[in-house]
Amino acid sequence: MTAKVLITGAGSGIGLAVARRVVARGMRAILWDISAAALQAAQDELGDSAEVRQVDVSDVRAVTGAAASLEGVSHLVNNAGILGRQMDWGDLDPSEIARVLAINVTGFMQVASCFIAARRPHSTAAIVNMASIAGENGGAPGFASYGASKGAIIALTRAMARDFAPEVRVNALAPGIIDTPIQEAVMADAAARARAAEGIPMQRMGSPDEVAEATEWLLFDAAYTTGEIIRIAGGRR
Ligand SMILES: NC(=O)c1ccc[n+]([C@@H]2O[C@H](COP(=O)([O-])OP(=O)(O)OC[C@H]3O[C@@H](n4cnc5c(N)ncnc54)[C@H](O)[C@@H]3O)[C@@H](O)[C@H]2O)c1
Repeated sequence: MTAKVLITGAGSGIGLAVARRVVARGMRAILWDISAAALQAAQDELGDSAEVRQVDVSDVRAVTGAAASLEGVSHLVNNAGILGRQMDWGDLDPSEIARVLAINVTGFMQVASCFIAARRPHSTAAIVNMASIAGENGGAPGFASYGASKGAIIALTRAMARDFAPEVRVNALAPGIIDTPIQEAVMADAAARARAAEGIPMQRMGSPDEVAEATEWLLFDAAYTTGEIIRIAGGRR
């Protein structure tokens, strides 16, 4: 049976790299993203195997509305996420904390709930959640809400793996520093990128496709793997 894979945050970076691999396997990809322009570019590139839909995952009504078109979905890559604005502990902005958690945690849970309600049984049914090593190490200075949100995804992965077994396997990836637009806020220039590379045993940032490769394995091949968090971080922790 052909898989139908819902990928959130699929207009850019890691999500788009996953969509490319899904389509290359001859499967259908459903791409959700908040950016209409990014989705249009993805549709132009991926053609008829991709269905795109503009959805803000933090908008409960938008998610439940879009869920009506998920018939036949068999796999989920719960990937949409933001870093949020850098904040000092002495100058926290509660609305910014709430925005990060609304997208990275509440939206994530809402999408998972809709996926479970709509899904069609499939021999390799699986969810891959996009956590981060920030969920383990606390994240970069000034980005504690992001680290907290990714720590929540690690806990949620373990809860979902327990709750959805044996029908659906659930695993998370914890990428390190991957070369995508999300890094632009913290790596504005070549010097910042070089400093970041020095802190990585592999001496370079990862590529979105290197995360997509692991996602593809967890989705379709890792038949006895569930509840695991796998770092894709070039040796960084
Ligand atoms: N790039 C890294 O270094 C890195 C490291 C660890 C984890 N991650 C995680 O990987 C995931 C993908 O990030 P990326 O690096 O590809 O970044 P990215 O910015 O290239 O892609 C994120 C996508 O999510 C979309 N998005 C943002 N808010 C949304 C919302 N409310 N609803 C729907 N879509 C929304 C954006 O439009 C964008 O297309 C994120 O969850 C991120 O936290 C990235």
